[in-house]
Amino acid sequence: MEKIAIIGGTGLSALPELQLTEEKQIDTPYGAPSAKLQLGELNGKQLVFLPRHGNPHLIPPHSINYRANIWALREFGVDKIVAVNAVGGIGDEMDAGHIAIPDQIIDYTYGREHTFSDSADVELEHVDFTNPYDEVLRQALVDAATALELPFSKRACYGATQGPRLESAAEIQRMLRDGCDLVGMTGMPEAALARELDLPYAVISMVVNRAAGLSEGIITMEEIERVMETGMLQVLLLLGQFLQD
Ligand code: HPA
Repeated sequence: MEKIAIIGGTGLSALPELQLTEEKQIDTPYGAPSAKLQLGELNGKQLVFLPRHGNPHLIPPHSINYRANIWALREFGVDKIVAVNAVGGIGDEMDAGHIAIPDQIIDYTYGREHTFSDSADVELEHVDFTNPYDEVLRQALVDAATALELPFSKRACYGATQGPRLESAAEIQRMLRDGCDLVGMTGMPEAALARELDLPYAVISMVVNRAAGLSEGIITMEEIERVMETGMLQVLLLLGQFLQD
């Protein structure tokens, strides 16, 4: 049976409906992943859940061991990865509560361990990243969101920033000029690492706030948490539908 991995982000540190059968600690040449892998079944599919920020510890975006996470999932034999992340909205339709299935990435992160290609045991390869997300998997998520009649965007450009601070208004204006629709802190290097290991990877982004300078006032954690609570219920619905298909 196909094994599907779900990487949960902020607001999704567990899959409530997952019938947990086992938790597995996996070590990798790059260190330990963010948490034990949670194995189980949902809607008749074999699932592996990994909370990106740890369980229960909250590892900040720039300190996540992305290499260990992706390596552990590969080691465990997953066939594909669906990742979830909370993001700020830049594009006009990207209001709080909106879901997007991104199709492009711009990477503004720095200083992260971002490749497997620099270690002795992995041959250097310049992987193609023209379309950073797996189109078949992306389309399956689009189909699931369409079936549920969710208000969502079929395409979006995800801008990955370093964090943990939020952006300045000028940084968001630059990202807007660059063509970013979304801003988040965990989309990279995760996507590129999955590509290096040839693992189909796609993302569900939940907009939890308008990005800096695009709404009145400053961004507060209270606002983000309020949107996240209901937003993640929609993400769970979407995942359930995707797994049923
Ligand atoms: N910027 C970066 N990351 C985020 C944001 C944001 O506004 N909201 C949620 N994650």
